[in-house]
Amino acid sequence: MSLRTAKIVSLLVTLIGAIVLWQGSTFSSLGNQQGYEPVQPINFSHKLHAGDNQIACLYCHSGADKSKVAGIPAASTCMNCHQRILKDSPEIQKITRAIDENKPIEWVKVNDLPDHAIFNHSRHVIASIKCQQCHGAVETMDRISQADTLSMGSCVACHRSHREVTLDEVGRPVVSEEATAKKLMASTDCSVCHH
Ligand code: HEC
Ligand code: HEC
Ligand code: HEC
Ligand code: HEC
Ligand code: HEC
Repeated sequence: MSLRTAKIVSLLVTLIGAIVLWQGSTFSSLGNQQGYEPVQPINFSHKLHAGDNQIACLYCHSGADKSKVAGIPAASTCMNCHQRILKDSPEIQKITRAIDENKPIEWVKVNDLPDHAIFNHSRHVIASIKCQQCHGAVETMDRISQADTLSMGSCVACHRSHREVTLDEVGRPVVSEEATAKKLMASTDCSVCHH
């Protein structure tokens, strides 16, 4: 191999490497965490609470219809029930200990948008969009996983469709006279979701 060929080969290798790196970083900046299902510090089951025992989502996520964040319940909310129910279970003892030591339970955040994107729970919940539309069938999950891509594409697709339609009780778009009468206007302006 001549020196010249060697130089071209090494240039090509560098270029290909750069392209692979660039694509990799584009991927990670898209941050698609769909399916992310971290282990939590307490073995809390939505299936058991929201499914089998039908405790309302808003009982624990009381910010969802009032503010930007849905919020994670404080340990004291758990004790509304667990000072009686299963209080000797090792998992429940972890809650008691957190309260005694005055330490928050360190739940691992699952759904997490990048800081440059703005989201607001109450606007969606008041517009009758079901939690399940974005979070999947939470009431069947023993451990929470991220159901949606939460990509800009998925936000914008729904915002666009809401210029003409509204949603039924399970969150599917419906077109009807009534729906048209109370149609929602979801903007697709960049500034609505980015500051
Ligand atoms: C008894 C309290 C309780 C009820 C009822 C409850 N949750 Fe939760 N939820 C929690 C706790 C605690 C966490 C944090 C631990 C975890 O992720 O499992 C959580 C986490 C979540 C998360 C993930 C948060 C993140 O980090 O992204 C979603 C989404 C969620 N809940 C939705 C719902 C929905 C929808 C319902 C109703 C179908 C519901 N929850 C009912 C207590 C509750
Ligand atoms: C409104 C009542 C209520 C609230 C509030 C509540 N739980 Fe429960 N929890 C229950 C019931 C009912 C069971 C199932 C009891 C059974 O199976 O006998 C349960 C079971 C559990 C279990 C299973 C324990 C075991 O050993 O099997 C864990 C862990 C748990 N809850 C954690 C939590 C945490 C953490 C919170 C707060 C974020 C919470 N619970 C809030 C009612 C509640
Ligand atoms: C239109 C989509 C959408 C709907 C509807 C929705 N969420 Fe969320 N949820 C999100 C997004 C996006 C995040 C991540 C927000 C962030 O990281 O800034 C999130 C985060 C959460 C979290 C983590 C804590 C927080 O507030 O950031 C919980 C808990 C939660 N949602 C519960 C609920 C519940 C309960 C409902 C229904 C009452 C609901 N969500 C309805 C999209 C939605
Ligand atoms: C299932 C449909 C749906 C999805 C998915 C959805 N939205 Fe929305 N969004 C709406 C509707 C409908 C409204 C308008 C509600 C109203 O009229 O008050 C809205 C309103 C908003 C607003 C308030 C706009 C304003 O004028 O202040 C923001 C911000 C927003 N959405 C961000 C997001 C982001 C970010 C995502 C993705 C993570 C998302 N939305 C996903 C349906 C959706
Ligand atoms: C309905 C909400 C919504 C609207 C409207 C919206 N975005 Fe986004 N955008 C998001 C969310 C959520 C993310 C983060 C998730 C992702 O990267 O897909 C994002 C990510 C981005 C990113 C970063 C992409 C990356 O690779 O990290 C850019 C750049 C961007 N948006 C530009 C725009 C521009 C320009 C407009 C107007 C034409 C716009 N957005 C309108 C919700 C929105």
